[in-house]
Amino acid sequence: MPATAYVNGRYLPLAGARLPVEDRGTQFADAVYEVVAMFGGRPLDWEAHCWRLRRGLAALFIEGAPSDAALGRIAQTLWRRSRLADGLLYIQVSRGTARRDHGFPEGVRPNLVMTARPFDFRKRLAQQQGGVAVVSLPDQRWKRCDLKTTGLLGAVLAKAEARRLGAFEAMFHLEDGTVTEGASTNMWLVTPSGTLVTHPLSAKILPGVMRDTVLRLAREAQFAVAERPFTLDEARAAPELFLTSTTGPLLPVTRLDDAPVGTGKPGPAATRLATLLWAEIARQTGWTP
Ligand SMILES: Cc1ncc(COP(=O)(O)O)c(C=O)c1O
Repeated sequence: MPATAYVNGRYLPLAGARLPVEDRGTQFADAVYEVVAMFGGRPLDWEAHCWRLRRGLAALFIEGAPSDAALGRIAQTLWRRSRLADGLLYIQVSRGTARRDHGFPEGVRPNLVMTARPFDFRKRLAQQQGGVAVVSLPDQRWKRCDLKTTGLLGAVLAKAEARRLGAFEAMFHLEDGTVTEGASTNMWLVTPSGTLVTHPLSAKILPGVMRDTVLRLAREAQFAVAERPFTLDEARAAPELFLTSTTGPLLPVTRLDDAPVGTGKPGPAATRLATLLWAEIARQTGWTP
């Protein structure tokens, strides 16, 4: 069976991959993670994922994780051994294994896990053409949403509620109506004059790798862009909404709660940006739909 997991130095089938019960990630969500899109065995935006992982490790004071270069070598070996082409590489670094106690343990080494799973990016093309539905839900997460930790219960519950309501994603809003992001995506709107708007970087949102890539592509293509908060009311009135994420990678939102967004069909800005994004994916990885 091909190896689809790596745990602390060993490559093995996912079903046999194990961490100790007292892994701090399991007991305290004392861990950071990344999900990297692999196209034909090549990672998209690898440096940006490494940068975010490194930032999270520093914020959590987790020391001793392998270097970016070492992570890259492990990832490449895992991918080769998994015999996958397109898929998602999951990387998780926890503080380590120690007797359960809230305080940082002395002298532990981080636990490093990677998994390789197939993912069909082509299925996104149909969703891109049809658009997806989102539902607005209160943002009930903690106050450091900029850190990609495995403490994901707020997102998990919201995603479950969104699915129960037949939607693809939740659109999180604060008590004052400000839209922050999705449960696992960044949210964007297009104003009537064509400006792209997305929440600015702060502790309230994850600095999405795809958000960053789309910002760059949009600016290069001369879109007007504003990184500023927007409200649910503004979202309801917007001619276009869309979301971005590693797995999305860019999907028009054509329904918000009980109402169509704009014409109810994917709009020109999201469609153009999605085309630019697929071209960027092809440029980086050689992959075409
Ligand atoms: C809360 C949240 N926001 C945004 C994103 C999108 O980030 P990225 O583009 O790096 O996948 C994710 C991805 O999982 C997420 O969990």
